[in-house]
Amino acid sequence: MMSGASPVLEVLGLSKFFKAVKAVRNVSFSVARGKTFGIVGESGSGKSTTARLVLRLIEPTSGDISFRGRDLSAMRPEELRRERRHMQMIFQDPFGSLNGRMTVRETLTEPQMVHGIGTPASRVETASGLLAEVGLPTAALDRFPHEFSGGQRQRIAIARALATNPELIVADEPVSALDVSVQAQVLNLLRDLQERHGTTMLFISHDLRVVQFMCDEIAVMYLGEIVEQGPRERIYGAPAHPYTQALLASVPGRGSGKRTRLVGEIPSAHAAPSGCAFRTRCPQAHERCAVEAPVMRQLGDGQQAACHLLDKAVSA
Ligand SMILES: Nc1ncnc2c1ncn2[C@@H]1O[C@H](COP(=O)(O)OP(=O)(O)OP(=O)(O)O)[C@@H](O)[C@H]1O
Ligand code: SF4
Ligand SMILES: [Mg+2]
Repeated sequence: MMSGASPVLEVLGLSKFFKAVKAVRNVSFSVARGKTFGIVGESGSGKSTTARLVLRLIEPTSGDISFRGRDLSAMRPEELRRERRHMQMIFQDPFGSLNGRMTVRETLTEPQMVHGIGTPASRVETASGLLAEVGLPTAALDRFPHEFSGGQRQRIAIARALATNPELIVADEPVSALDVSVQAQVLNLLRDLQERHGTTMLFISHDLRVVQFMCDEIAVMYLGEIVEQGPRERIYGAPAHPYTQALLASVPGRGSGKRTRLVGEIPSAHAAPSGCAFRTRCPQAHERCAVEAPVMRQLGDGQQAACHLLDKAVSA
């Protein structure tokens, strides 16, 4: 359910093909201001491609992206460059995403400078403030990324993402490279900061527990498509799609003894199965699934899923 306010991000019928690989197919969702929208799915399901499309780091094959009520795909380079101030990204690997030759001071002041924010003095002040917010001392300003632990580096990457006071943060597997003991600290920090700054977030992870902790609304992707989408309570409490059910059953400590474990490998993205893409691994696949692709069904309370089994549920 969307609130009355217009969404910060709205994606409609988004697709991206890399030659024969349909990395993202007909993806639609919207993210309300201040909310966190999660995308979850196995490796190769199209999560990162969706993130890169949303930030317009790559061009879509088709579909529309509206950011802050404006058509992002129609923006000219100069306009897009200015708009970038309002959308920042946090990546999985803070070592790769931070410039090893830049001090923390430079790392945190550069984005402000690029977007013409503040004066040299105020930028450093902002940088110190951001460091304090992410739990690092001011002395860190003169140090280099390699002098920090993985968790600390990700804190620096989070501070950098916040440096331009963006409206949207896209976080792609932001804790996957961290030790489990550090993951919770960084997730708590992200949540606190988001609340304090009112930032809207697109949050990507293959880890269902992380997504449950972070996200208000969740989309489950399989082979480039969203197969189920809805509020967190519905996705975790009443999953409708066999793939969502199988993913949840594979989470340790969940399930009620009866396990519909996910079996088999994900098919090659070069040759997605006919009909329902999930049919080669679906315990409930039947004849129709091979010949006809299921369409999205509205299930109420903002939940929707694409599976032939839901036809009866809807028409009944
Ligand atoms: N630049 C590219 N050229 C060709 N194929 C690509 C490119 N980028 C992604 N793909 C393919 O598109 C599909 C989706 O990739 P993507 O990186 O979006 O998945 P993902 O869900 O982020 O996976 P992971 O969990 O491993 O990060 C994969 O089959 C991938 O090999
Ligand atoms: S459409 Fe068929 S194969 Fe696909 S999820 Fe539903 S039952 Fe399984
Ligand atoms: Mg990825």
